[in-house]
Amino acid sequence: MMIFANAKLRHSDDLVDVLVENDTIKDILPAGITSIAEAEVIDLEGRLLCEPYVESHIHLDYIHTADIPKEKSTSGTLFEAIDNWADAKSVFSIESIKELAFKGIKAEVTNGVQYIRTHVDVTDPKMTALKAILEVKEEVKDYLYLQIIAFPQEGYYAYKGGAELVEEALKMGADVVGGIPHYEFTKELGEKSVKKAFELACKYDKLIDIHCDETDDEQSRFVENIAAEAYYTGIGSRATASHTCAMGSYNNAYALKMMSKFRKAGINFVSCPTENCYLQGKYDSFPKRRGLTRVDQLVEAGCNVSFAQDSISDPWYPLGNGNLIHQVDFGLHLAHMMTDKEINNGLDFITINGAKTLSVEKDYKLKKGGRASFIVLDAPDERTAIRERAHVILSVNKGKIIVRKTPEKLTVVPWSA
Ligand code: FE2
Repeated sequence: MMIFANAKLRHSDDLVDVLVENDTIKDILPAGITSIAEAEVIDLEGRLLCEPYVESHIHLDYIHTADIPKEKSTSGTLFEAIDNWADAKSVFSIESIKELAFKGIKAEVTNGVQYIRTHVDVTDPKMTALKAILEVKEEVKDYLYLQIIAFPQEGYYAYKGGAELVEEALKMGADVVGGIPHYEFTKELGEKSVKKAFELACKYDKLIDIHCDETDDEQSRFVENIAAEAYYTGIGSRATASHTCAMGSYNNAYALKMMSKFRKAGINFVSCPTENCYLQGKYDSFPKRRGLTRVDQLVEAGCNVSFAQDSISDPWYPLGNGNLIHQVDFGLHLAHMMTDKEINNGLDFITINGAKTLSVEKDYKLKKGGRASFIVLDAPDERTAIRERAHVILSVNKGKIIVRKTPEKLTVVPWSA
């Protein structure tokens, strides 16, 4: 038995003790009333204990590849990065991809992540990246839930045979059907690719997550195709639209009409605040658009939205460190979400909302009798955690401590006692 004593839970000022036996939360009791002989006690001294972080959108097969196509021109646009990647990716082997993916996983797990959904480029007849990440999934399964998307980086049709490769990847073990309709040659081919993604998801009983409208082009409206397919196929909340940056450029009459359709369809949205505020707006002079989807309006409409890292140093984005609380801090700023309620709910974007997107809610929620998987932040409440981008000092997965950090002790002479 382990007792995580004097913890604060989200949306509460009360201190509690969390009792863990094997892989289960045996009980959650008011602090101070528990005394069990031979229990190991970890005093959290009033720190926030919450569900583990969920990385709902990253590319583990691209980690630390920013320098690979460096000799190419670098306008910093998304479409140029895709073209550069197409020329460069053949240099990677299963071993090299695994090595880099593990660096990304280590960065994320160290910062409190226990669930990752990764896109994996399958527009490669050799399926090198997919083979590598499938091996990684098996090797990390004891401490990390890894969900793999068959992602055709170069398109279902813009890459000849792309649709067939997505299907092959699903047969090989990918969990989710991907897509990138805004990269296809025409609007019709983009629409056809969305339809194909849903056909495959129905055929193989898979989830869906499509890179959708990742552009400032207000004419890019594939999100409506995803919503319609999710609604009419009944796939609903098993489908996700990632990015949807163009929504930030739609006229209000269209965007606000779609909000109720999105809610009705039940689809999830993933926004990548740092990546998209860097990648988008590249064709603007001034004023420059922020590049983000309409996070506040989607939340207000009752849609599920999560925040994600997307890249750790790759041809699309040279920075990124796998610490998701940075995405919450940036995201709340960029989406103009600073009311008390919005700040206090901020961690939802990288916890329960991400779990909904991955369809892993069943074992996720922190409760008596539930799975003993949680993290502890070096902060007493949500506002402080976000404002200070608090460190994760403890990560417990199925009753086992997988990360433990000592809180920093800083001495500043004029203020020291
Ligand atoms: Fe992405």
